[in-house]
Amino acid sequence: MTRIGMGLVGPGFVGAHHIDAVRRLGFVDVVAVSASTEASARRKADALGVPKAYGSYEALVADPDVHVVHNTTPNYLHVPVVLAALERGKHVVSDKPLAMTAADAKKLAARFVPPDGRVRFSISIRRAPTSRSRRSSSTSSPSPGRSSRSPARACWRWSATA
Ligand SMILES: NC(=O)c1ccc[n+]([C@@H]2O[C@H](COP(=O)([O-])OP(=O)(O)OC[C@H]3O[C@@H](n4cnc5c(N)ncnc54)[C@H](OP(=O)(O)O)[C@@H]3O)[C@@H](O)[C@H]2O)c1
Repeated sequence: MTRIGMGLVGPGFVGAHHIDAVRRLGFVDVVAVSASTEASARRKADALGVPKAYGSYEALVADPDVHVVHNTTPNYLHVPVVLAALERGKHVVSDKPLAMTAADAKKLAARFVPPDGRVRFSISIRRAPTSRSRRSSSTSSPSPGRSSRSPARACWRWSATA
């Protein structure tokens, strides 16, 4: 089976869960993390058993060994990190929220999905009123995306297709 290289931006509380989850798949190598500084990234990389550490997300998304970027940064960095990864043609799994403003969400939607790329946003609290509301508005709208239950039923995913 083809192996996939995963790079994680934002190796904090929830980032460790992303790393644990992809390792359980058996065909994903966690190749790099990036944090707010190189020293912080190195500490986290050593603690998580990840070989490469970067002090900027721009450096991580430029790494050719990284095929998919997981984004678990603070909310205000979600849009810039996703856009930087898309610019490099990477697949993206980003934690919620999609963006902090509707304008930013629209900017992101305009850049969604390189020819064969995919972006997913994980929302684990799918039974909460805010998640239900997002789901119904997303499914009733023809664009730019749709939501569905993940195979693992662990989260709602929001995906866009070309
Ligand atoms: N789906 C869920 O159930 C769930 C649960 C909790 C949180 N979340 C979401 O996950 C995101 C992270 O939450 P968290 O609780 O894991 O936060 P956290 O523990 O504070 O972790 C944030 C991480 O982002 C890194 N970071 C900050 N600035 C960065 C930059 N410029 N470049 C790269 N990395 C940077 C931090 O690194 P430094 O240590 O170097 O600053 C830290 O490793 C939030 O958006 C939150 O909404 C989702």
